Amino acid sequence: MEINKVAIIGAGEMGHGIAELFAMRGYSVNLIDVSQDALQKALQSIRESLGKFVKRGTMTEDSMEGIVSGIRTFTKINEGVNDADLIIEAVPEKMEIKEAVFKEISLYARADAIIGSNTSNIRITELSRSVSNPSRFLGVHFFNPPVIMKLVEIIRGDDTGEVVVNKVYEVIKGLGKVPVKVKKDVAGFIVNRISAPEMLYFCMILDKGIAKPEEVDMFARSQGLPMGPYELMDFVGLDVVYDSMIYYAKEISQDYAKCNTIKHMVEKGYLGRKAGKGFYQWSSGKAIIGSAIPTDKVTLMDVLVLEVNEAVKLIELGVASPDDIETAVKLGLNRPFGPISVAQSMTSSEAKEKLDQLSNEFQCSIFEPAASIRDGKLRDAIGGRLQQSAPKQQPTSQLPEGYKVISVEKVADKIMRISINRPKLNLLNLDVINELDRTIDELWNDRETFVIIITGSGTNFSAGADLSTYFADGVSFMEFSRKGERVFRKLTEIPKIVIASLKGYVLGGGFELALACDIRVSTSSSMMGFPEVTLGLVPGWGGTQRLTRLAGASRAMHMILTGERITGKDSYDIGLVSKLFDDDIDGETLKYARGISSSSAPIAAAMAKKLINKAAEVPEDVGLDLESTAMGVLYGTEDLKEGVSSLLAKRKPIYRGK
Ligand SMILES: NC(=O)c1ccc[n+]([C@@H]2O[C@H](COP(=O)([O-])OP(=O)(O)OC[C@H]3O[C@@H](n4cnc5c(N)ncnc54)[C@H](O)[C@@H]3O)[C@@H](O)[C@H]2O)c1
Repeated sequence: MEINKVAIIGAGEMGHGIAELFAMRGYSVNLIDVSQDALQKALQSIRESLGKFVKRGTMTEDSMEGIVSGIRTFTKINEGVNDADLIIEAVPEKMEIKEAVFKEISLYARADAIIGSNTSNIRITELSRSVSNPSRFLGVHFFNPPVIMKLVEIIRGDDTGEVVVNKVYEVIKGLGKVPVKVKKDVAGFIVNRISAPEMLYFCMILDKGIAKPEEVDMFARSQGLPMGPYELMDFVGLDVVYDSMIYYAKEISQDYAKCNTIKHMVEKGYLGRKAGKGFYQWSSGKAIIGSAIPTDKVTLMDVLVLEVNEAVKLIELGVASPDDIETAVKLGLNRPFGPISVAQSMTSSEAKEKLDQLSNEFQCSIFEPAASIRDGKLRDAIGGRLQQSAPKQQPTSQLPEGYKVISVEKVADKIMRISINRPKLNLLNLDVINELDRTIDELWNDRETFVIIITGSGTNFSAGADLSTYFADGVSFMEFSRKGERVFRKLTEIPKIVIASLKGYVLGGGFELALACDIRVSTSSSMMGFPEVTLGLVPGWGGTQRLTRLAGASRAMHMILTGERITGKDSYDIGLVSKLFDDDIDGETLKYARGISSSSAPIAAAMAKKLINKAAEVPEDVGLDLESTAMGVLYGTEDLKEGVSSLLAKRKPIYRGK
């Protein structure tokens, strides 16, 4: 797809610069903001910025007018995104604002439009939960000011398509920028992640009263830096700094929450430049820094070794190559060197000694040496030679392999899809039952899986058991039935949420498979029923029991004794199906699964499933007893603490299944 029209949402500090950049390169730009005032200021700033080129004689007045008039402004997202090929979100770094914006974009943008976020820290996969079809969603992280700064981090979320990453990479290159691919989606990506430990270090220097802001900033200036760390924090906004530390505390380590001084300053409204007061008084956009003697309590080595350490951790995690990290930090922080060239002049033991000292002094695990530094492999790490001995990888799900009649794939974070894949309407034979059995076992203890979707490939779920299979005698036919019963029973017991996504024929054994799942969603036109009795059999994989429990004896009698088929819509009306999805059953089921995986606590959900299933099997007093036991178990989980604290903080919970 050609990218011609770009929509930018948020016309603030970043959005107006990104709009200017695209407009300068001839793209037609829709600039969207809830505030008409912000849009007017944005156009004014763009005009002033372009005016500098006119003054220098590198742009004519006519070209400037042409560029400005190529930017159309909107106060409504629906009007601004509906014809865009590429949409870039640059609204404030608040999860709830971004989520609402992505939901609206998803409603009104073209289905093939690429959607990017300019977020500074928030993991792309986390944001992608609010985007329909997240394979077209990625991070496009510009640096401030976008027109000047060369670096753009291109971040792939867990679900981002390769084609989308490459397309946007080329577009950004075409803008004259240097795109760097961030291969793994971690909080803070490359540049902000590498700066995070030193930011924490300067927070702790304050909290511990080791030095005053002006003494540290004087020291920084004496080392040739244009701005000291506290002046920089004031410049960026102390609220922005604090929010990012709290996000890192949640995503990386609680150590990041050790920033009390900044917390108190934010509470008092001392937000830095924008409030006129932070660490310093600000006047006409400049900090008034009183004279001070540069501190000798901080050394450049302290700061640089923390950068090197974090860079090595990113290499170990496979987030980016050493070369890309060096480029990103140089261009993103506007410095002549990055952490990789700093590390060239350090030995593993020097780095380790300094990091051990810092982590002990500040009682901070973030400052502990990365595994490669600890193991004397700093050279290998920065030389890109860690592949064979890669230490400490993030735990990843082991995808089950080697299936012939089903396919098993990870379709989103924590969501697996099992598709029955057989000729002739996905008929179920012993191979399917055995492979289902194996995959259920493999996923049983997989902490990376929370929701399992079961569906059929093509247009049908499954038209039933394959009765053309040869059975030597009644006993082997009985064993075939018992095997299916055992496997379907496992679906009711696996501590994951299992969703049957139904379409086309859902008959006989296929219907029994659907009934063994926890939740059924369907198209309205799917056909469900039990033809067994009309063939001289009975439903043999739990159908007589489960349909009776789910739909009542009377309806089960009718359906099983007559073999009459009912539609997905009829099933919905009698409560067998929970949701009808007619437009895009696969996409809508995935969205529904994401809804569960992003908002429900996994252990609580698994226990609720068990209790609901038990309700049909045990006397009420036993069920109630099981319920109170479950409450006792859940009381000790981290997820419960997260649930309550997120409720109080009015934010979305992030459950870890612990
Ligand atoms: N400022 C930086 O230095 C910088 C650098 C890189 C990335 N970022 C990231 O870029 C994003 C934007 O930051 P910023 O500094 O430009 O913020 P900003 O506050 O300057 O601008 C945000 C704009 O979004 C608008 N807005 C708010 N809600 C909206 C909605 N629902 N729909 C449309 N517009 C809405 C606001 O009116 C405002 O004009 C953030 O995610 C931030 O982390 C910022």
